[in-house]
Amino acid sequence: MKSITSYTSDYLLIEGGKPLRGAVKISGSKNATLPILMATILTREECQIGNVPQLLDVRTTLELLNHLGARVVSDSSWVCVETAPLRSHTAPDHMVRRMRASVLVMGPLLARLGRALVSMPGGCSIGVRSIDQHLKVFEKAGASISIRHGYLDLNIRKIKPVEHTFEVITVTGTENALMLLSACPKRSVLRNIALEPEIMDLVEVLGKMGAQIDIDGRTAVIRGSEELAGFKHSVIPDRIEAGTFMVASYVSGGDVLLENLRVDHLGSVIEKLREAGAEVEILDLSTLRVRGKTTIKPLSISTSEYPGFPTDMQAQFMVLCSLADGVSEITENIFENRFQHVGELQRMGADIHVRGRTAIVRGVKRLEGAEVYSTDLRASASLVIAGLVADGQTIVRDIYHLDRGYERLEEKLRSLGASVERCPSREY
Ligand code: EPU
Repeated sequence: MKSITSYTSDYLLIEGGKPLRGAVKISGSKNATLPILMATILTREECQIGNVPQLLDVRTTLELLNHLGARVVSDSSWVCVETAPLRSHTAPDHMVRRMRASVLVMGPLLARLGRALVSMPGGCSIGVRSIDQHLKVFEKAGASISIRHGYLDLNIRKIKPVEHTFEVITVTGTENALMLLSACPKRSVLRNIALEPEIMDLVEVLGKMGAQIDIDGRTAVIRGSEELAGFKHSVIPDRIEAGTFMVASYVSGGDVLLENLRVDHLGSVIEKLREAGAEVEILDLSTLRVRGKTTIKPLSISTSEYPGFPTDMQAQFMVLCSLADGVSEITENIFENRFQHVGELQRMGADIHVRGRTAIVRGVKRLEGAEVYSTDLRASASLVIAGLVADGQTIVRDIYHLDRGYERLEEKLRSLGASVERCPSREY
Protein backbone atom coordinates (compact mmCIF):
# COMPACT_ATOMS: atom_id res chain seq x y z
CA MET A 1 0.00 0.00 0.00
CA LYS A 2 1.26 3.50 -0.85
CA SER A 3 1.75 6.11 1.80
CA ILE A 4 -1.31 8.25 2.48
CA THR A 5 0.53 11.53 2.56
CA SER A 6 0.48 12.04 -1.21
CA TYR A 7 -3.33 11.79 -1.59
CA THR A 8 -5.75 14.61 -1.12
CA SER A 9 -8.94 13.05 -2.48
CA ASP A 10 -11.41 10.78 -0.69
CA TYR A 11 -11.43 7.13 -1.56
CA LEU A 12 -14.13 4.47 -1.73
CA LEU A 13 -13.85 1.25 0.20
CA ILE A 14 -15.90 -1.48 -1.45
CA GLU A 15 -16.58 -4.97 -0.15
CA GLY A 16 -17.38 -6.99 -3.24
CA GLY A 17 -19.72 -9.87 -3.88
CA LYS A 18 -23.12 -8.43 -3.00
CA PRO A 19 -25.75 -8.53 -5.77
CA LEU A 20 -27.53 -5.19 -6.22
CA ARG A 21 -31.23 -5.40 -5.41
CA GLY A 22 -33.96 -2.79 -5.14
CA ALA A 23 -34.96 0.42 -6.90
CA VAL A 24 -32.88 3.44 -7.85
CA LYS A 25 -33.90 6.86 -9.18
CA ILE A 26 -31.77 8.27 -11.97
CA SER A 27 -30.67 11.90 -11.56
CA GLY A 28 -30.72 14.72 -14.08
CA SER A 29 -28.14 14.59 -16.86
CA LYS A 30 -24.80 16.26 -16.20
CA ASN A 31 -24.05 16.80 -19.88
CA ALA A 32 -27.48 18.32 -20.50
CA THR A 33 -27.36 20.56 -17.41
CA LEU A 34 -24.00 22.17 -18.24
CA PRO A 35 -24.92 23.70 -21.65
CA ILE A 36 -28.40 24.66 -20.39
CA LEU A 37 -26.84 26.57 -17.49
CA MET A 38 -24.53 28.32 -19.97
CA ALA A 39 -27.53 29.18 -22.17
CA THR A 40 -28.85 31.41 -19.37
CA ILE A 41 -26.15 33.90 -20.44
CA LEU A 42 -28.08 34.44 -23.68
CA THR A 43 -30.93 36.27 -21.95
CA ARG A 44 -31.39 39.04 -19.40
CA GLU A 45 -34.49 37.33 -18.08
CA GLU A 46 -34.71 34.84 -15.25
CA CYS A 47 -34.25 31.15 -16.05
CA GLN A 48 -35.47 28.28 -13.90
CA ILE A 49 -33.92 24.87 -14.35
CA GLY A 50 -35.17 21.74 -12.64
CA ASN A 51 -33.89 18.17 -12.17
CA VAL A 52 -30.38 19.60 -11.80
CA PRO A 53 -28.00 17.00 -10.33
CA GLN A 54 -25.82 18.02 -7.40
CA LEU A 55 -22.40 17.44 -8.89
CA LEU A 56 -18.97 19.02 -8.79
CA ASP A 57 -19.22 20.04 -12.48
CA VAL A 58 -22.56 21.73 -11.87
CA ARG A 59 -21.11 23.59 -8.89
CA THR A 60 -18.15 24.71 -11.01
CA THR A 61 -20.53 25.98 -13.71
CA LEU A 62 -22.57 27.92 -11.15
CA GLU A 63 -19.34 29.38 -9.75
CA LEU A 64 -18.37 30.44 -13.26
CA LEU A 65 -21.78 32.08 -13.80
CA ASN A 66 -21.37 33.83 -10.45
CA HIS A 67 -17.90 34.96 -11.42
CA LEU A 68 -19.35 36.48 -14.62
CA GLY A 69 -21.82 38.43 -12.50
CA ALA A 70 -24.95 36.27 -12.66
CA ARG A 71 -27.31 35.87 -9.71
CA VAL A 72 -27.69 32.20 -8.89
CA VAL A 73 -30.14 30.76 -6.41
CA SER A 74 -30.44 27.03 -5.95
CA ASP A 75 -32.81 24.94 -3.92
CA SER A 76 -32.28 21.15 -3.93
CA SER A 77 -32.63 20.19 -7.61
CA TRP A 78 -33.85 23.62 -8.84
CA VAL A 79 -31.53 26.37 -9.97
CA CYS A 80 -32.63 29.89 -10.76
CA VAL A 81 -30.21 32.01 -12.79
CA GLU A 82 -30.45 35.65 -13.73
CA THR A 83 -27.64 37.00 -15.88
CA ALA A 84 -28.94 40.58 -16.29
CA PRO A 85 -26.07 41.97 -14.20
CA LEU A 86 -23.35 40.17 -16.22
CA ARG A 87 -20.10 42.13 -15.71
CA SER A 88 -17.26 39.91 -16.91
CA HIS A 89 -16.40 38.10 -20.12
CA THR A 90 -13.57 36.05 -18.65
CA ALA A 91 -13.51 32.34 -17.85
CA PRO A 92 -10.38 32.12 -15.70
CA ASP A 93 -7.80 29.39 -15.92
CA HIS A 94 -8.51 27.78 -12.54
CA MET A 95 -12.13 27.17 -13.52
CA VAL A 96 -11.49 25.89 -17.04
CA ARG A 97 -8.83 23.54 -15.68
CA ARG A 98 -11.31 22.14 -13.17
CA MET A 99 -13.91 21.53 -15.85
CA ARG A 100 -13.24 21.29 -19.56
CA ALA A 101 -16.90 21.89 -20.34
CA SER A 102 -16.26 25.53 -19.32
CA VAL A 103 -15.59 26.03 -23.06
CA LEU A 104 -19.40 26.03 -23.42
CA VAL A 105 -19.30 29.59 -22.11
CA MET A 106 -17.72 30.84 -25.37
CA GLY A 107 -20.80 30.83 -27.62
CA PRO A 108 -23.17 32.44 -25.09
CA LEU A 109 -20.64 35.11 -23.99
CA LEU A 110 -19.86 36.06 -27.59
CA ALA A 111 -23.58 36.32 -28.32
CA ARG A 112 -24.38 38.39 -25.26
CA LEU A 113 -21.32 40.61 -24.73
CA GLY A 114 -19.52 40.34 -28.07
CA ARG A 115 -16.40 39.18 -26.25
CA ALA A 116 -15.18 36.06 -24.53
CA LEU A 117 -11.80 35.65 -22.89
CA VAL A 118 -11.50 31.98 -22.05
CA SER A 119 -8.49 30.10 -20.76
CA MET A 120 -7.32 27.62 -23.42
CA PRO A 121 -8.49 24.18 -22.42
CA GLY A 122 -5.61 21.76 -22.73
CA GLY A 123 -6.06 18.07 -23.40
CA CYS A 124 -7.20 15.84 -20.59
CA SER A 125 -6.61 12.25 -19.55
CA ILE A 126 -8.85 10.84 -22.30
CA GLY A 127 -7.40 12.72 -25.26
CA VAL A 128 -6.14 15.93 -26.89
CA ARG A 129 -9.68 17.25 -27.24
CA SER A 130 -9.14 20.02 -29.73
CA ILE A 131 -11.77 22.79 -30.02
CA ASP A 132 -10.91 23.76 -33.60
CA GLN A 133 -14.45 22.90 -34.73
CA HIS A 134 -15.98 25.33 -32.24
CA LEU A 135 -13.65 28.09 -33.39
CA LYS A 136 -14.34 27.52 -37.10
CA VAL A 137 -18.05 28.27 -36.58
CA PHE A 138 -17.27 31.34 -34.47
CA GLU A 139 -14.95 32.63 -37.20
CA LYS A 140 -17.56 32.10 -39.91
CA ALA A 141 -20.04 34.00 -37.75
CA GLY A 142 -17.65 36.97 -37.79
CA ALA A 143 -15.56 36.47 -34.66
CA SER A 144 -11.90 37.40 -34.53
CA ILE A 145 -9.85 34.97 -32.51
CA SER A 146 -6.42 35.39 -30.98
CA ILE A 147 -4.45 33.64 -28.28
CA ARG A 148 -2.87 35.73 -25.53
CA HIS A 149 -1.03 34.44 -22.50
CA GLY A 150 -2.86 31.13 -22.61
CA TYR A 151 -6.25 32.72 -23.17
CA LEU A 152 -8.48 32.60 -26.23
CA ASP A 153 -9.65 36.11 -26.96
CA LEU A 154 -12.81 36.09 -29.06
CA ASN A 155 -14.48 39.26 -30.31
CA ILE A 156 -17.52 39.77 -32.47
CA ARG A 157 -19.35 42.95 -33.54
CA LYS A 158 -22.39 41.43 -35.17
CA ILE A 159 -23.21 37.76 -35.52
CA LYS A 160 -23.37 36.80 -39.18
CA PRO A 161 -25.55 33.90 -40.32
CA VAL A 162 -23.53 30.79 -41.04
CA GLU A 163 -23.55 27.84 -43.46
CA HIS A 164 -21.17 25.33 -41.97
CA THR A 165 -20.36 21.64 -42.13
CA PHE A 166 -18.53 20.21 -39.11
CA GLU A 167 -15.49 18.17 -40.16
CA VAL A 168 -15.73 16.19 -36.93
CA ILE A 169 -18.95 15.40 -35.09
CA THR A 170 -18.64 17.21 -31.79
CA VAL A 171 -21.09 17.43 -28.90
CA THR A 172 -19.99 20.65 -27.18
CA GLY A 173 -18.96 22.11 -30.57
CA THR A 174 -22.54 21.67 -31.80
CA GLU A 175 -23.88 23.15 -28.55
CA ASN A 176 -21.61 26.20 -28.71
CA ALA A 177 -22.58 26.84 -32.34
CA LEU A 178 -26.31 26.45 -31.62
CA MET A 179 -26.10 28.86 -28.69
CA LEU A 180 -24.22 31.54 -30.67
CA LEU A 181 -26.47 31.29 -33.72
CA SER A 182 -29.63 31.36 -31.60
CA ALA A 183 -28.80 35.02 -31.07
CA CYS A 184 -28.70 35.70 -34.83
CA PRO A 185 -32.09 36.47 -36.40
CA LYS A 186 -30.97 35.43 -39.88
CA ARG A 187 -31.11 31.82 -41.10
CA SER A 188 -28.06 29.66 -40.38
CA VAL A 189 -27.41 26.08 -41.40
CA LEU A 190 -25.17 23.63 -39.53
CA ARG A 191 -24.41 20.27 -41.11
CA ASN A 192 -22.92 17.11 -39.62
CA ILE A 193 -24.05 18.08 -36.13
CA ALA A 194 -24.04 15.76 -33.12
CA LEU A 195 -27.46 14.41 -32.14
CA GLU A 196 -26.94 13.35 -28.52
CA PRO A 197 -30.10 13.61 -26.37
CA GLU A 198 -28.32 16.29 -24.31
CA ILE A 199 -28.14 18.45 -27.45
CA MET A 200 -31.84 17.91 -28.10
CA ASP A 201 -32.54 19.07 -24.55
CA LEU A 202 -30.56 22.25 -25.24
CA VAL A 203 -32.46 22.70 -28.53
CA GLU A 204 -35.71 22.50 -26.58
CA VAL A 205 -34.45 25.19 -24.20
CA LEU A 206 -33.29 27.45 -27.05
CA GLY A 207 -36.76 26.99 -28.56
CA LYS A 208 -38.35 28.11 -25.29
CA MET A 209 -36.06 31.16 -25.41
CA GLY A 210 -37.40 32.11 -28.83
CA ALA A 211 -34.99 30.56 -31.34
CA GLN A 212 -36.41 28.41 -34.07
CA ILE A 213 -34.26 25.33 -34.65
CA ASP A 214 -35.30 22.63 -37.10
CA ILE A 215 -33.30 19.44 -37.21
CA ASP A 216 -33.42 17.01 -40.09
CA GLY A 217 -30.89 14.18 -39.93
CA ARG A 218 -27.56 15.77 -39.01
CA THR A 219 -28.59 19.20 -40.34
CA ALA A 220 -29.88 22.04 -38.18
CA VAL A 221 -31.53 25.17 -39.56
CA ILE A 222 -31.47 27.98 -37.03
CA ARG A 223 -33.39 31.22 -36.99
CA GLY A 224 -32.48 33.01 -33.81
CA SER A 225 -33.55 36.20 -32.11
CA GLU A 226 -31.71 39.24 -30.76
CA GLU A 227 -34.00 39.25 -27.73
CA LEU A 228 -34.00 35.77 -26.26
CA ALA A 229 -36.37 35.14 -23.36
CA GLY A 230 -36.02 33.44 -19.98
CA PHE A 231 -37.22 29.86 -19.65
CA LYS A 232 -38.36 27.16 -17.27
CA HIS A 233 -37.08 23.70 -18.01
CA SER A 234 -36.58 20.33 -16.38
CA VAL A 235 -33.36 18.56 -17.46
CA ILE A 236 -33.56 15.08 -19.01
CA PRO A 237 -32.40 12.06 -16.98
CA ASP A 238 -28.75 11.02 -17.15
CA ARG A 239 -28.51 8.13 -19.62
CA ILE A 240 -24.92 7.38 -18.63
CA GLU A 241 -25.77 7.13 -14.94
CA ALA A 242 -28.65 4.84 -15.93
CA GLY A 243 -26.36 2.71 -18.11
CA THR A 244 -23.83 2.48 -15.29
CA PHE A 245 -26.46 1.12 -12.86
CA MET A 246 -27.72 -1.25 -15.55
CA VAL A 247 -24.29 -2.79 -16.03
CA ALA A 248 -23.71 -2.92 -12.26
CA SER A 249 -27.01 -4.72 -11.75
CA TYR A 250 -26.26 -7.33 -14.39
CA VAL A 251 -22.66 -8.13 -13.53
CA SER A 252 -23.41 -8.32 -9.80
CA GLY A 253 -26.10 -10.91 -10.52
CA GLY A 254 -28.64 -8.45 -9.16
CA ASP A 255 -32.20 -7.32 -9.83
CA VAL A 256 -32.57 -3.55 -10.05
CA LEU A 257 -35.53 -1.39 -10.98
CA LEU A 258 -34.31 1.85 -12.54
CA GLU A 259 -36.75 4.75 -12.31
CA ASN A 260 -36.87 8.29 -13.77
CA LEU A 261 -34.90 7.47 -16.90
CA ARG A 262 -35.58 7.79 -20.63
CA VAL A 263 -35.71 4.35 -22.20
CA ASP A 264 -35.61 5.94 -25.66
CA HIS A 265 -32.14 7.40 -24.91
CA LEU A 266 -30.69 4.02 -24.01
CA GLY A 267 -31.23 2.00 -27.19
CA SER A 268 -27.67 0.89 -27.91
CA VAL A 269 -26.93 0.20 -24.24
CA ILE A 270 -30.06 -1.94 -23.80
CA GLU A 271 -29.20 -3.82 -27.00
CA LYS A 272 -25.66 -4.64 -25.84
CA LEU A 273 -26.79 -5.66 -22.37
CA ARG A 274 -29.37 -8.03 -23.84
CA GLU A 275 -26.75 -9.41 -26.21
CA ALA A 276 -24.58 -10.10 -23.16
CA GLY A 277 -27.44 -12.10 -21.67
CA ALA A 278 -29.05 -9.60 -19.31
CA GLU A 279 -32.81 -9.59 -18.85
CA VAL A 280 -33.81 -6.00 -19.54
CA GLU A 281 -37.52 -5.53 -18.97
CA ILE A 282 -38.98 -2.24 -20.16
CA LEU A 283 -41.89 -1.41 -17.87
CA ASP A 284 -42.68 1.98 -19.37
CA LEU A 285 -40.82 4.88 -21.00
CA SER A 286 -39.17 5.88 -17.74
CA THR A 287 -38.74 2.58 -15.91
CA LEU A 288 -36.83 -0.57 -16.58
CA ARG A 289 -35.59 -3.57 -14.69
CA VAL A 290 -32.25 -5.32 -15.18
CA ARG A 291 -31.64 -8.80 -13.88
CA GLY A 292 -28.49 -10.87 -13.84
CA LYS A 293 -27.89 -14.36 -15.10
CA THR A 294 -24.96 -16.60 -14.29
CA THR A 295 -23.21 -16.63 -17.68
CA ILE A 296 -22.22 -13.34 -19.29
CA LYS A 297 -21.80 -13.56 -23.06
CA PRO A 298 -18.83 -11.84 -24.75
CA LEU A 299 -19.47 -8.77 -26.87
CA SER A 300 -18.12 -6.83 -29.79
CA ILE A 301 -18.42 -3.11 -29.06
CA SER A 302 -17.48 -0.14 -31.18
CA THR A 303 -18.11 3.32 -29.76
CA SER A 304 -19.61 6.00 -31.97
CA GLU A 305 -21.70 9.14 -31.91
CA TYR A 306 -25.33 8.91 -30.80
CA PRO A 307 -27.38 6.87 -31.56
CA GLY A 308 -24.35 4.53 -31.60
CA PHE A 309 -22.78 2.99 -28.52
CA PRO A 310 -21.58 5.81 -26.21
CA THR A 311 -17.91 6.25 -25.41
CA ASP A 312 -19.10 7.22 -21.92
CA MET A 313 -20.24 3.60 -21.38
CA GLN A 314 -17.13 1.91 -22.80
CA ALA A 315 -15.25 1.53 -19.50
CA GLN A 316 -18.26 0.13 -17.63
CA PHE A 317 -18.87 -2.47 -20.36
CA MET A 318 -15.21 -3.44 -20.19
CA VAL A 319 -15.85 -4.75 -16.68
CA LEU A 320 -18.77 -6.76 -18.01
CA CYS A 321 -16.60 -8.18 -20.80
CA SER A 322 -13.86 -8.99 -18.27
CA LEU A 323 -16.28 -11.43 -16.63
CA ALA A 324 -17.78 -12.85 -19.83
CA ASP A 325 -17.53 -16.44 -20.94
CA GLY A 326 -15.26 -15.83 -23.95
CA VAL A 327 -13.33 -13.14 -25.78
CA SER A 328 -14.74 -9.65 -26.37
CA GLU A 329 -13.49 -6.83 -28.57
CA ILE A 330 -13.97 -3.19 -27.63
CA THR A 331 -13.01 -0.46 -30.10
CA GLU A 332 -12.89 3.15 -28.92
CA ASN A 333 -13.47 5.48 -31.86
CA ILE A 334 -14.22 8.81 -30.16
CA PHE A 335 -11.24 9.52 -27.89
CA GLU A 336 -7.68 8.39 -28.61
CA ASN A 337 -6.68 7.73 -25.01
CA ARG A 338 -9.72 6.33 -23.28
CA PHE A 339 -8.29 3.02 -22.11
CA GLN A 340 -6.63 4.21 -18.92
CA HIS A 341 -8.89 2.00 -16.80
CA VAL A 342 -7.32 -1.04 -18.51
CA GLY A 343 -4.22 -0.98 -16.32
CA GLU A 344 -6.30 -0.69 -13.16
CA LEU A 345 -8.67 -3.50 -14.21
CA GLN A 346 -5.63 -5.66 -14.96
CA ARG A 347 -4.54 -5.11 -11.36
CA MET A 348 -7.87 -6.64 -10.36
CA GLY A 349 -7.19 -9.72 -12.47
CA ALA A 350 -8.80 -8.72 -15.79
CA ASP A 351 -7.19 -10.13 -18.93
CA ILE A 352 -7.10 -7.22 -21.39
CA HIS A 353 -4.71 -6.43 -24.22
CA VAL A 354 -4.85 -3.16 -26.08
CA ARG A 355 -3.93 -2.99 -29.76
CA GLY A 356 -4.26 0.54 -31.02
CA ARG A 357 -7.87 1.58 -30.59
CA THR A 358 -9.08 -1.93 -29.76
CA ALA A 359 -9.03 -3.80 -26.47
CA ILE A 360 -9.19 -7.58 -26.56
CA VAL A 361 -10.85 -8.74 -23.37
CA ARG A 362 -10.64 -12.41 -22.35
CA GLY A 363 -13.21 -13.18 -19.72
CA VAL A 364 -11.93 -14.41 -16.36
CA LYS A 365 -13.86 -16.32 -13.69
CA ARG A 366 -13.51 -13.60 -11.08
CA LEU A 367 -11.91 -10.24 -10.33
CA GLU A 368 -9.97 -9.63 -7.15
CA GLY A 369 -10.21 -6.60 -4.91
CA ALA A 370 -7.23 -4.24 -5.15
CA GLU A 371 -6.22 -0.64 -4.60
CA VAL A 372 -6.92 1.19 -7.85
CA TYR A 373 -6.84 4.74 -9.14
CA SER A 374 -9.47 6.75 -10.98
CA THR A 375 -8.17 8.48 -14.07
CA ASP A 376 -11.37 10.02 -15.42
CA LEU A 377 -15.05 10.05 -14.63
CA ARG A 378 -16.22 6.96 -16.51
CA ALA A 379 -13.02 5.03 -15.74
CA SER A 380 -13.83 5.60 -12.05
CA ALA A 381 -17.33 4.22 -12.56
CA SER A 382 -15.86 1.09 -14.13
CA LEU A 383 -13.56 0.58 -11.13
CA VAL A 384 -16.50 0.91 -8.76
CA ILE A 385 -18.46 -1.72 -10.72
CA ALA A 386 -15.39 -3.96 -10.71
CA GLY A 387 -15.11 -3.48 -6.94
CA LEU A 388 -18.76 -4.44 -6.45
CA VAL A 389 -18.22 -7.83 -8.08
CA ALA A 390 -14.62 -8.53 -7.04
CA ASP A 391 -13.58 -10.92 -4.30
CA GLY A 392 -12.64 -9.03 -1.15
CA GLN A 393 -11.94 -5.35 -0.64
CA THR A 394 -11.35 -2.73 -3.31
CA ILE A 395 -10.08 0.76 -2.68
CA VAL A 396 -10.89 3.26 -5.43
CA ARG A 397 -8.73 6.35 -5.06
CA ASP A 398 -9.04 9.86 -6.51
CA ILE A 399 -12.81 9.72 -6.54
CA TYR A 400 -13.17 13.45 -7.11
CA HIS A 401 -13.56 12.27 -10.71
CA LEU A 402 -16.72 10.41 -9.67
CA ASP A 403 -18.05 13.43 -7.80
CA ARG A 404 -17.85 15.40 -11.02
CA GLY A 405 -20.51 13.26 -12.65
CA TYR A 406 -22.37 10.82 -10.37
CA GLU A 407 -24.82 12.19 -7.81
CA ARG A 408 -24.60 10.43 -4.41
CA LEU A 409 -23.23 7.30 -6.06
CA GLU A 410 -22.21 5.45 -2.92
CA GLU A 411 -25.51 6.33 -1.21
CA LYS A 412 -27.49 4.96 -4.15
CA LEU A 413 -25.36 1.81 -4.28
CA ARG A 414 -25.75 1.27 -0.55
CA SER A 415 -29.54 1.54 -0.89
CA LEU A 416 -29.25 -1.36 -3.35
CA GLY A 417 -27.39 -3.47 -0.80
CA ALA A 418 -23.79 -2.76 -1.82
CA SER A 419 -21.10 -2.33 0.77
CA VAL A 420 -19.51 1.00 -0.24
CA GLU A 421 -17.94 3.45 2.14
CA ARG A 422 -16.50 6.89 1.41
CA CYS A 423 -13.41 7.54 3.48
CA PRO A 424 -11.39 10.71 3.81
CA SER A 425 -7.89 10.11 2.58
CA ARG A 426 -6.11 11.25 5.73
CA GLU A 427 -7.79 8.56 7.82
CA TYR A 428 -6.48 5.77 5.68
N1 EPU B 1 -12.93 17.08 -31.61
C1 EPU B 1 -12.09 17.76 -32.47
N2 EPU B 1 -12.28 19.10 -32.62
C2 EPU B 1 -13.24 19.77 -31.94
C3 EPU B 1 -14.09 19.07 -31.07
C4 EPU B 1 -13.91 17.72 -30.93
O1 EPU B 1 -11.21 17.18 -33.07
O2 EPU B 1 -13.35 20.99 -32.13
C5 EPU B 1 -12.75 15.64 -31.42
C6 EPU B 1 -12.36 15.28 -29.99
O3 EPU B 1 -10.97 15.40 -29.76
C7 EPU B 1 -12.90 13.87 -29.86
C8 EPU B 1 -14.15 13.90 -30.73
O4 EPU B 1 -14.00 15.01 -31.60
O5 EPU B 1 -11.96 12.99 -30.38
C9 EPU B 1 -15.45 14.03 -29.99
O6 EPU B 1 -15.38 15.09 -29.05
P1 EPU B 1 -16.63 15.96 -28.60
O7 EPU B 1 -16.35 17.38 -28.90
O8 EPU B 1 -17.89 15.36 -29.11
O9 EPU B 1 -16.58 15.75 -27.03
P2 EPU B 1 -16.94 16.86 -25.98
O10 EPU B 1 -18.02 17.70 -26.50
O11 EPU B 1 -15.70 17.50 -25.49
C10 EPU B 1 -18.86 15.54 -24.77
C11 EPU B 1 -19.15 15.08 -23.38
C12 EPU B 1 -18.22 13.93 -23.03
C13 EPU B 1 -18.47 12.80 -24.03
C14 EPU B 1 -18.25 13.32 -25.47
C15 EPU B 1 -18.56 12.30 -26.53
C16 EPU B 1 -19.96 17.07 -22.30
C17 EPU B 1 -19.75 18.15 -21.31
N3 EPU B 1 -18.97 16.20 -22.47
O12 EPU B 1 -17.50 15.97 -24.78
O13 EPU B 1 -18.57 13.49 -21.74
O14 EPU B 1 -17.58 11.75 -23.78
O15 EPU B 1 -19.07 14.47 -25.69
O16 EPU B 1 -19.85 11.86 -26.42
O17 EPU B 1 -21.02 16.99 -22.91
C18 EPU B 1 -18.20 12.53 -19.63
O18 EPU B 1 -19.35 12.88 -19.32
O19 EPU B 1 -17.51 11.74 -18.92
C19 EPU B 1 -17.63 13.01 -20.88
C20 EPU B 1 -16.32 12.97 -21.14
